[in-house]
Amino acid sequence: MTDIYFDHAATTPVHPEVLQAMLPYFTTVYGNASSTHGSGRQARAATLHARETISQFIGCTPNELIFTSGGTESDNMALFGAAAAGSHKGKHIITSQIEHHAVLHACEQLEKRGYEVTYLPVDKTGRIKLEHVQQAIRPDTILISTMYANNEVGTIQPIDDIGLMARDKGILFHVDAVQALGHVPIDLSRLPVDLMSFSAHKIQGPKGIGALYAAKHVKLEPLLYGGNQERKRRAGTENTAAIAGFSKAVQIIDRNTYETRQKLEKLRSEMAAKLQQALGREQVVINGHPVERVPHILNVSFPGISTETMLMNLDLEGIAAASGSACTAGSLEVSHVLKAMRLEDEITRSAIRFSFGPSNSLQEIDKAVEKIATVVQRIRN
Ligand SMILES: Cc1ncc(COP(=O)(O)O)c(C=O)c1O
Repeated sequence: MTDIYFDHAATTPVHPEVLQAMLPYFTTVYGNASSTHGSGRQARAATLHARETISQFIGCTPNELIFTSGGTESDNMALFGAAAAGSHKGKHIITSQIEHHAVLHACEQLEKRGYEVTYLPVDKTGRIKLEHVQQAIRPDTILISTMYANNEVGTIQPIDDIGLMARDKGILFHVDAVQALGHVPIDLSRLPVDLMSFSAHKIQGPKGIGALYAAKHVKLEPLLYGGNQERKRRAGTENTAAIAGFSKAVQIIDRNTYETRQKLEKLRSEMAAKLQQALGREQVVINGHPVERVPHILNVSFPGISTETMLMNLDLEGIAAASGSACTAGSLEVSHVLKAMRLEDEITRSAIRFSFGPSNSLQEIDKAVEKIATVVQRIRN
């Protein structure tokens, strides 16, 4: 049984107000948003309201928002959609080595289809260097795709600067903002970004719903063909309940942005400080950028204790945490993010991600640190 949930970067519990906002669309307002009768019109009104709420929060117009099934689909739609629409101009794409697999595996697939992809390196804190972006740009580059905040170490990328470079060369710029929404202010009316991906389940919304921002001028080939939904950019009956939930989750962040950020920052800094106090500074290595980072992710290495052993022991103690490593054939592979950061082997093989949410408390931090200290000492002895 999980007692302490420190895995909010993987997913968050649905906020009770979100659940309440969703319920009518399962029970009373179950019409199809494309139907012309009363129930359909009510469902449509809910999606319009949600589109307005979310677009206002991120500073775009409602028509620039396409509802999708989540971050993965948004990333795929941005990459495949922009690649197909821009292939007459060129077939070169730039991304980074530390992207989420929703971007990396889509890029691998694009390579199989004749596109060329440059995977930018990052420094030891997980940041892309602007000079590397500059050097990678070619006359046939059609798209640059980088994440806003990394899901394993929390490092924030210099997206303003990358976006300006892209704009200067007439290259489309896609940003995966799945881990940034709610944690970093996003104002698309000012950001030099053409496409941006979002997901609701990272912000106390339901799973299986997200959005892609596509600026008015962006041409995208759809991934899905069928009905005329989403202005023919994404066919399929709208998931009204999930869309209403996503909208409510955004309203909740909007209402509490400042307090939530302060709280998460406090939880993160207390956890880091208390772990170092309990175990000694050299036994607790914090990964990622010290300043350019989101407040909810703390990636820590416990040198000498493998990620696998640590996660198993934390689970036994009722603490849910994560690693960025994929489990293949029963053992953990080293995370591609930490590998790209070129940290020492000892560090990459012992990294654990703790990620916090608004429902966590300082008491939980104290309890977790105590348990972790016991686990570490037990394993080391
Ligand atoms: C940075 C990033 N991009 C994309 C995704 C995929 O989002 P979803 O789970 O909504 O498909 C995730 C989920 O962990 C993520 O962290």
